Amino acid sequence: MNIDYKALAQKYGTPLYIYDFDYITNRYMALKEAFSGHKSLINYAVKANSNLSVIAHLAKMGAGADCVSIGEVRRALDAGVDRYKIIFSGVGKRDDEIRAALEYDILLLNLESEAEMKRVEMVARELGKEARISIRVNPNIDPQTHPYISTGLHENKFGVEIDMAKRMYIYAKKSQYLNPVGIHFHIGSQLTNLDPIKESCGIVADLVRSLKAIDIDIKFFDVGGGIGVVYDNEKTISPTEYTQAVFEMTKGLDVTLLCEPGRYMVANAGAFFTKVLYEKQNGSKRFVVIDGAMNDLIRPSLYNAYHRIEAVGVTGEKTPADVVGPVCESGDFLGKNVLLPPLRHDDLLIVHSAGAYGFTMASNYNTRPKSAEVALEGGKDRLIRARETYEDQVRLELAYLHQDA
Ligand code: LLP
Repeated sequence: MNIDYKALAQKYGTPLYIYDFDYITNRYMALKEAFSGHKSLINYAVKANSNLSVIAHLAKMGAGADCVSIGEVRRALDAGVDRYKIIFSGVGKRDDEIRAALEYDILLLNLESEAEMKRVEMVARELGKEARISIRVNPNIDPQTHPYISTGLHENKFGVEIDMAKRMYIYAKKSQYLNPVGIHFHIGSQLTNLDPIKESCGIVADLVRSLKAIDIDIKFFDVGGGIGVVYDNEKTISPTEYTQAVFEMTKGLDVTLLCEPGRYMVANAGAFFTKVLYEKQNGSKRFVVIDGAMNDLIRPSLYNAYHRIEAVGVTGEKTPADVVGPVCESGDFLGKNVLLPPLRHDDLLIVHSAGAYGFTMASNYNTRPKSAEVALEGGKDRLIRARETYEDQVRLELAYLHQDA
């Protein structure tokens, strides 16, 4: 697509998130296509980018939603996701969240501990409902990704061991208020190697076979999210390689395959636009100070993640510079040693691959307003979230200002 970056920056201001909805369409279609011939449901992981318009765009194509808070469930419902395509995961659900999920009658509550199962049973009993549940199994497989986004080892807080899962299924089967219909695993994010996924899939498929043998009929087999994307030049997993591996490992099981991709769907649909404020030199170190910061895009600071940064329409000899924001932290950078031409006030920088875990991890640190968000679709652009104002930020405090204790 021929995008006039400067015109967009001019129209909406910076810092700004822009998402190419046509790219999201293509990603969704490619994955759906790769599942063809099998019963499947793609539950978009809302945490990656929870803008209502993004969710609605995916919902229109038939996607479900993978949610980790009741807030995300509400977003999915508001965006038009069918309730029976919504699943609710997460290691720590509160009673009110469990109650709301049961009242919304979503597809599945995904359980991560025995204690949680008992809690869900109690809430379901109070409501006189039967909770459809799935259990997250921790297959103890090293996903070979960044330790902060690795989740499938026993040392991580997620899921339960195989033996415990089995005991939980047997308990749930006997309970009047629990209906164990699903199984789930998710070993980590930004996975670029298929082997750990395949291995986990095999372990969990074996468990399903043994459950079916004792008359516990698992209908939904959820392989989690985690498909890696290209940020730099890494080689990653294609949708067909992915589904072929899943088909191979679940062969003979009569199940609906669920998956929960977040990053795969939106990371490379998004870019973060920021303008140069100043250049400065501290000794031999060159800094480019921008109007975006770690509060807008925390991945570089938090995970040392790489995002390609490009200066739009500027020529000249490129030299390395740290691209830093105005936040009062040395960790506030979007790129280190980035090769950039000489830059002037108001030059536009584009930070690529920012569609996943960008805006959703943004904060108001330093009382910085959250960026606006814009969708590009069919050659047109439209605002999908207004830029936050100072008033938006202090709204919940003003009523209490200058009140006596
Ligand atoms: N399902 C579960 C249970 C998850 O925990 C996650 C991500 C997903 C699905 C979606 O994973 P994806 O397809 O996006 O890899 N903030 C980090 C990523 C944290 C991922 C947390 N869980 C980052 O910026 O890299």
